[in-house]
Amino acid sequence: MRTLKVALLGCGTVGSDVVRYMTRHAADLTARIGAPVELAGIAVRQAGLPRPGAPEHLVTTDADALVRRGDIDVVIEVIGGVDRARDLIMTAFEHGASVVSANKALIAAEGAALHAAAAAHGADLYYEAAVAGAVPLLRPLRESLAGDRVNRVLGIVNGTTNFILDRMHSSGADYPQALKEATALGYAEADPTADVEGHDAAAKAAILAGFAFGTRVRVEEVHREGITAITSADIDNAKAAGSVIKLVAVCERGAGGSSVNARVHPAMIPSGHPLAAVRGAFNAVLVEADAAGQLMFHGPGAGGAPTAGAVLGDLVAVCRNRLAGVTGPGDAVHNRLAVSPMADVVTRYHLGLDTTDQPDALAEVAAVLGRHGVSIATLSRRHGDGGFSLTVSTHHATDASLSAAVRALRTADHVRCVTSVIRIEGT
Ligand code: HSE
Repeated sequence: MRTLKVALLGCGTVGSDVVRYMTRHAADLTARIGAPVELAGIAVRQAGLPRPGAPEHLVTTDADALVRRGDIDVVIEVIGGVDRARDLIMTAFEHGASVVSANKALIAAEGAALHAAAAAHGADLYYEAAVAGAVPLLRPLRESLAGDRVNRVLGIVNGTTNFILDRMHSSGADYPQALKEATALGYAEADPTADVEGHDAAAKAAILAGFAFGTRVRVEEVHREGITAITSADIDNAKAAGSVIKLVAVCERGAGGSSVNARVHPAMIPSGHPLAAVRGAFNAVLVEADAAGQLMFHGPGAGGAPTAGAVLGDLVAVCRNRLAGVTGPGDAVHNRLAVSPMADVVTRYHLGLDTTDQPDALAEVAAVLGRHGVSIATLSRRHGDGGFSLTVSTHHATDASLSAAVRALRTADHVRCVTSVIRIEGT
């Protein structure tokens, strides 16, 4: 029986758990693949660091030489970043290997070129771990739902921001305090920009949209807003409205189904909605399909062991293909649907307004909204600070109309301040 050789690029949090579970589950992996897998090399950036479980003789700082060996069946890339990872993967394809990656930024930015290279070299490129860690999403979208038509994907795909927003809701912490806690617990990186500004979630949304609709959505086409502007007042408003605030990724078909859009932004979600119950650093994704209806996927979206589990699932699939002399389904993109700009997306807003106490203040707010084609779904008003505190939820309208209405409200005679603007999802 031939032994399949695996090269591991990166031995940090995820890489060391890949080694650990490859060793611990070796017998099962052999049985499931139909041949043993052997770790042939581990490329690291810095030699000499303690790496429990990683055999010292396999560790090298020369990743290029490792992917050029020519006898490697599968390269596992868990180094992150775009340029270096892309170059190594391209070289791996050229030297006959298939690739398993957990790198969402790379796949979102370079997925088309990488898939083309994989196809040209008769290799596989799998990356289940890139979106929502351990939560199986890409394979269900590509395989289990291949006979269905996905219309919408709504999810929480970033654990760090979900942890921060959850802490703000549950403990009353403000954003800086909650971020500090997330950093202390190791959820947020020293530079938390990719998480809190929504870049990480946007990359995942771009990949999800490709799998859901078969249409390439570039990461630059994903409308992106982070959570840094969410205040304790926003959280209180959400509580008063019977909702929670989550950073959501939404991928959906436009009216008529000939276009798609993908976006990442904070949204108020009613407390009874399944996504509202997603606590801490967990991820969850709701998929809506024609025949299947609503499917909910939930679980740990980050961390060494959960991500390693998803990587090893791909390793088994790629090794099976290799032994059978075939490749898997390849690039998920087969459609060319238009990607709508955010201005055309139909959504709902929750608005907090501070108005004067004049009798015509309410009428002016309603008139400004009406002039922009925005109708009011709910409205509540209470006295405060010499004026009124007004909370409005709108009916559906295009984001262009809603944002134009908000701009007009900011300069309306009786509006002293627009205190909060948050989209509403899950209603
Ligand atoms: N920083 C990411 C998160 C890790 O918090 O979800 C997984 O992409």
